[in-house]
Amino acid sequence: MITDPKVEQYMHSLLPAADAVQAEMERIGAERHFPIVGPLVGRLLLQVARAIGARDIFEMGSGFGYSTLWFARALDESGRVVHTEMSDDLSEEARRHLTRAGVAARVTFEVGNALDTITRYPGPFDVIFIDVEKEDYPAALDLARVRVRPGGFIITDNVLWSGKVAQDPSTFDAATRAIDTYNRVTAAAPDFLTTILPLRDGVALHYKIAETPRRTRPSSPRIGQLTPLGRKTPLPR
Ligand SMILES: C[S@@+](CC[C@H](N)C(=O)[O-])C[C@H]1O[C@@H](n2cnc3c(N)ncnc32)[C@H](O)[C@@H]1O
Repeated sequence: MITDPKVEQYMHSLLPAADAVQAEMERIGAERHFPIVGPLVGRLLLQVARAIGARDIFEMGSGFGYSTLWFARALDESGRVVHTEMSDDLSEEARRHLTRAGVAARVTFEVGNALDTITRYPGPFDVIFIDVEKEDYPAALDLARVRVRPGGFIITDNVLWSGKVAQDPSTFDAATRAIDTYNRVTAAAPDFLTTILPLRDGVALHYKIAETPRRTRPSSPRIGQLTPLGRKTPLPR
């Protein structure tokens, strides 16, 4: 969408083959022109959730459960992802797909407005994913930012909105204006470290700043110091 179609195609060609449930959901998305995140973004969701050892994930706007599938696969049996969806039918459909994928036990299904639903969940969450109506992005952010733990992520889809956010602001429609506001607020937020990846329609990663726990390891020998074998570490050339 944002990237050159050939580059997009190339990245797709590197992906491992989808299993039966993922492939079926991608086929349904394409047939209905339903805006699922797709496998490139799906893998990013999986990667981030795995990297931080996520156990509690909240999705705002889950559709028929495609992005939920990626998050659920990042969790172990003790993890939980909350699927939120306005449409009863889409929620039921998500339950069917995720049951077939063997991950439904890790999913809590909530029908209704995600901006209301989240107020019943104080958190803290390891990841909150925002993919609701674009006009609601600023309000969704306010609700999400106080519920994500330090060291966790808010991840938001469609933040480049087919490139419309880069056009002349006087041409913005309501959705583009809301996304642009969202992007400016998050970019300036002192409690988050934000990167927008121009992947598919633009994905924002907002890291909630925390004291970063350092990996513990024996300290490496200093230059010129004796190593355990009695050799001096070489000076860099
Ligand atoms: C872009 S689709 C979500 C796709 C899904 N995240 C995926 O990648 O598989 C947006 C979905 O969110 C739902 N939605 C939009 N605004 C919502 C809201 N405020 N609360 C709950 N669901 C919402 C829509 O009905 C639609 O199914």
